[in-house]
Amino acid sequence: MEIDWKQLTAVATAAMQKAYAPYSKFPVGAAALTEDGRIISGCNVENASYGLGLCAECSLVSELFRTGGGKLVAFACVDGKGEALMPCGRCRQLLFEHAADGMLLQTISGIKTIDEVLPDAFGPKDLQ
Ligand code: THU
Repeated sequence: MEIDWKQLTAVATAAMQKAYAPYSKFPVGAAALTEDGRIISGCNVENASYGLGLCAECSLVSELFRTGGGKLVAFACVDGKGEALMPCGRCRQLLFEHAADGMLLQTISGIKTIDEVLPDAFGPKDLQ
């Protein structure tokens, strides 16, 4: 499947513009393509109890299930300037859980696979 990275970046940037980030003032947007062709997105949602803030990826995973579930084939994350942002470590783990084999990410150093950004990941297989 050919990935339209420009489109994913645009959807992530639109999501970023909806972020609730009054504390960090660091809005983040995320977008992904699902195996069945849906494009989903999310933004960070912070909280006065700082540690409760939700990353954009959390909101994206909620939308994944709200819109029918399935696996992610491509993912992009942007900062307040609409530039590529690396998902934090916790979010790499979140994405791994829902990644199709070989899921691609747009990163600050080019397109990479989920296995490249989270090598030897702990995951559902370890619980079998
Ligand atoms: N943030 C995300 O939403 N995703 C990431 O992968 C990195 C960090 C958010 C969390 C917090 O609201 C803000 O960026 C600053 O850390």
